Amino acid sequence: MSESVLVRNLMHTPPVTVNPGHTLAEASHILDDRKVGAAAVLDREGAIVGIVSERDVLRSIGAGLDPHQTLVQDVMTASPVTVQAEDSAATALQIFRDRRFRHLPVVDAHGAVAGILSIRHLVRVAQIAEVRPAGSLVTDSLAPRGLEGVAVAETSVGDVRGEEGFFHYRGYDATELARHCSFEQVWHLLIDGELPDAATLEAFTREVGAGRTLPDGLAPILAQLATLPEFTPLGALRSAVSVTAAALGCRPVLDISAEQVRADALRMCAVVPVLLMRMHRIHNGLDPVDPDPELGYAANYLWMLTGNRPAEDHARALEQYLILTMDHGFNSSTFTSRVITSTGSDVGSALTGAIGALAGPLHGGAPSRALAMLDAIGTPDRAEEYLRDEIGAGNRLMGFGHRVYKTDDPRSTLLREVATHLVGGDQVEFARHVESTALMVLDELKPGRRLYTNVEFYAGVVMNSTGVPRDMFTPTFACSRTVGWTAAIAEQAANNRLIRPSALYVGPRAPRPLPDGYAVVA
Ligand SMILES: CC(C)(COP(=O)(O)OP(=O)(O)OC[C@H]1O[C@@H](n2cnc3c(N)ncnc32)[C@H](O)[C@@H]1OP(=O)(O)O)[C@@H](O)C(=O)NCCC(=O)NCCS
Repeated sequence: MSESVLVRNLMHTPPVTVNPGHTLAEASHILDDRKVGAAAVLDREGAIVGIVSERDVLRSIGAGLDPHQTLVQDVMTASPVTVQAEDSAATALQIFRDRRFRHLPVVDAHGAVAGILSIRHLVRVAQIAEVRPAGSLVTDSLAPRGLEGVAVAETSVGDVRGEEGFFHYRGYDATELARHCSFEQVWHLLIDGELPDAATLEAFTREVGAGRTLPDGLAPILAQLATLPEFTPLGALRSAVSVTAAALGCRPVLDISAEQVRADALRMCAVVPVLLMRMHRIHNGLDPVDPDPELGYAANYLWMLTGNRPAEDHARALEQYLILTMDHGFNSSTFTSRVITSTGSDVGSALTGAIGALAGPLHGGAPSRALAMLDAIGTPDRAEEYLRDEIGAGNRLMGFGHRVYKTDDPRSTLLREVATHLVGGDQVEFARHVESTALMVLDELKPGRRLYTNVEFYAGVVMNSTGVPRDMFTPTFACSRTVGWTAAIAEQAANNRLIRPSALYVGPRAPRPLPDGYAVVA
């Protein structure tokens, strides 16, 4: 590990601290709240007297101690080994190796506690092989639940900076791209790495337009999927994507060139809306509308949905929504697509898995729920009472709050503008009233939680206003996100290593003897 990486560059700071007299329940709450695995224990003068970890707390509870009675001083590691903020990461790694610690308090030149260093912080910068004793886990401490805050790959596709309310695609502010660019321009940026010049864009647009053709033999299968008794658009799309990849003969990325991965990626992205719209129309008793290669992605989307030429401002409003949702950091479905790709599997399998991950309400969410809330409120005069009652009843206001954004979600800011300027009308006026009332009520009833409008609030309004039916909201999101997924798939395929993590076994002690008399074969 490089000597130039210093502990102060890696540590968690400011340090989370507790008192020796805190109970384990209190300490556990503090650790949870701050999402860290260990806290420094300080005495009244602020001197460090110990370190206590989540694992110490769990072990004590497991041993039968009452967390409300047991004090931190009873379970902490007293007089802990410390590391200096100016020490190199390599020095810290040596201490972790020698002493088998998982966390170390970091002190500054005056001996005051400056941060906490976890083995995880080092693992992120170390080559894994360097840290791992042969045949064992990188560390016997668990990664945080849900892998929150853990970087598991390098990417140059894009990133989200939650505290700043900023996200980008290949370095370009995604909201600026949505404001000024077409779907195809941003699609090219994500899949090929750069914004296209005019000639490149023309060729790219032709290529992806041609990719809208339905593969031979698929039409009857789509018709069957569309008429299943328990049809849902997203479930049917997941199945159709899998069948389409098989029909196109998508081969394992391990066996094909980067050019072929790109070709499969573009073909699948281009055809996904065609599959969706065909099944949607058949399900609703309408004739499918063939794609029009002359139309841009968004206009063609609405054309295949309704069979009518969309108004320009509607197509543009939808296009902006689609650009804003193409990618969003290393989210669950993107991770899923990369895990599948890392096995060397084909683009279609990775997309099928990604749609499966997106289908979960915790991810693909339900933009229709925000709209349902507007319906339930009904009229502006009812907004405040309704919203107060919802929070009073312990419910969440749909379209507010975000795990990553603790400030305005940049997607909601732009979609509010899109809704207002391009769509307009009573529904938008009403939504804006409900939004400002909700923010006021949340500020009063949930102070300090930093709850702002999220992407779903205006996404529903924009899609509804452009004629996309509610059951097609999440599938529409899946179509645009296919672009981000395929960019991630191509990136993974180009620099692959099998993603194969480990788990801490916490079941009964192994090996266990079979229960007496259980064996049926002697
Ligand atoms: C998106 C979401 C799941 C993120 O949740 P999270 O980061 O895990 O936030 P937490 O669950 O830790 O909540 C922190 C606090 O804020 C409150 N809170 C979070 N979102 C809230 C909302 N939409 N309405 C009311 N209160 C909310 C929680 O009740 C909690 O309050 P408490 O401290 O009194 O218990 C959450 O904000 C939510 O459920 N929003 C509504 C659904 C939605 O809009 N989903 C689409 C997301 S794009």
